[in-house]
Amino acid sequence: MSATLQLPVQCASCGERLAGTTPITECPRCGGLLDAVIDTTQRLTPSSFDAPRYTLGSTSGVWRYRQLLPAIADEHIVSRREGNTPIYWHDRIATYAGIEPGRLGVKHEGHNPTGSFKDRGMTVAVSHAKSVGASVIACASTGNTSASLASYAATAGIPSMVLIPDGKISMSKLSQTLAFGAKVVQVAGDFDAALQLLREVTAEFDVYLANSVNPFRPEGQKTIVLEMLEELGWQAPDVIALPGGNLGNTAAFGKALVEAYAVGLIDRLPRVVTVQAEGASPFYRYFQSGFDHYEPMTPNTIASAINIGAPASVDRARRTIQNTGGLVACVTDEELLDAKAVIDAAGIGCEPASATTVAGIRKLVADGEISSDARVVCVLTGNVLKDTDNIVKYHLDDVDGAPRERANRPIRIEATMDAMKKVLDDAILS
Ligand code: F0G
Repeated sequence: MSATLQLPVQCASCGERLAGTTPITECPRCGGLLDAVIDTTQRLTPSSFDAPRYTLGSTSGVWRYRQLLPAIADEHIVSRREGNTPIYWHDRIATYAGIEPGRLGVKHEGHNPTGSFKDRGMTVAVSHAKSVGASVIACASTGNTSASLASYAATAGIPSMVLIPDGKISMSKLSQTLAFGAKVVQVAGDFDAALQLLREVTAEFDVYLANSVNPFRPEGQKTIVLEMLEELGWQAPDVIALPGGNLGNTAAFGKALVEAYAVGLIDRLPRVVTVQAEGASPFYRYFQSGFDHYEPMTPNTIASAINIGAPASVDRARRTIQNTGGLVACVTDEELLDAKAVIDAAGIGCEPASATTVAGIRKLVADGEISSDARVVCVLTGNVLKDTDNIVKYHLDDVDGAPRERANRPIRIEATMDAMKKVLDDAILS
C-alpha cells in the first residue's frame, strides 16, 4: 500500500487502490464496488478493545473496534452510542428452530438508537461524510436505512434526502424518517429502481451516497460480528444467520470474519447463513445454481425491508458464503411470519425480515444441512415496532377462513363485570 494513501479503499473486482478522502462508491477504472482496506498485519487480542468508561471506545459498540475500522479523526465522528446489543439465549426459540436448548441465541440489533442494525453502518458513513465536508447525504431505502440516515445526518447537522419505493415501506419507518427531517422522495417503482436513480444522481451532483455500496457503511456493520464474537469470548459459533436483501450486511459479515481471523482474534470461521424471503430470493437462486447463474427478479414479499430483486452487493456476498462454507436459504412469507410470532411471543420481538433467520435455521435443520447441536446466533436486524401494520394484520386477519395458529386476538366487551367474568372464565383462568 502506498504510504500516502489515507482511508485506503480497494476495488473488489480489479484490485485498484485509492484514497477514500473524497466521496467514492465505485472504482473509476472498472466500475466495481470498493472495500475499505484494513491493516490485517496487526496482531489483536481481546484486551485490544478495552477503553476507559464514557469515552467513545466504551459508549459506542461500533467505535470500540476502531483498530478494525477506517481511521476517521475523532472530531468528525457522529455517534449515538449505537451497538452494544444483547444476545438472548431463549429455549422456546431454539426448540422451534430445531436446535438444542441453550445453543441458539438471537442478537438483537433492534436495540440500536433508531431500531435497526443500520445505525452501525450509518455512524461510520455519516462520520466519513462529515470528514469530507459533504453538503447533502442521500440514500435509497426500504425504510430502515432512511430512518437511520435521517437521524445521523440531523445529529451531524447535514441535510439528508432519501429515495423510497412509493407505498412499499412501513408507516413506522416512514414516520421516523419524516420526524428526523430528511427530505423524502417517493419513487414510483421498487427499491432497485430507487437505488439506480440515486446512483445516477450522485454520479452527477454533489450528493454523498450513504447506501452500502459506499465502502464505509459495511465497515460499521462489521461490528455486529465483532461484538457478537467478543460476547462469546472470541469463540466463534458454528453458524451466524442473517437476512439478505441488498446483501451489504452479508458482505460486511464475511469481511469482519476474515479480518478477525487474520489478526488472530478467532481461530476458525463460522458458517454464514443468509436467508431470503422466497418472493425476493435472487441470491438464493444463484446459490442453488452453484453460483453459476445469477438473475435479478421482480421482488414481492411481505418483509418489506428485504423486498429487493437486484441486490447491489451480490458478488461481495458470494465471497462471504464461499469463504465461510456458508449457505443461502429462503423461506415463504407464512414461514417467516410464523417464526416472527414465536420470537414475538418470547417477549423479544422483531420485524418480519429479521424472523427469516429463525425460519431459515428451522428449515436447514429439518433438511439436515445444520445439526441440532450446532451453536447458532441469529441476527435480528430490526425492532418489533418497525412494522406494526403487519403485526395487527397477522393477529386479526383470517387465512383460509380461520385465524392463524399463533394469532392473539383481542376480546371486545361491554364495560360490565358480567362480561369481564366471562372473559376470565373462557380465556384467562380456564
Ligand atoms: N433486515 C432489515 C430489518 C433491513 O432493513 C435490511 C435492509 C436487511 C435485513 C437486509 O440487509 O440489505 O444488507 O442484505 N434494509 C435496507 C434499507 C435495504 O434500506 O433499510 P442487506
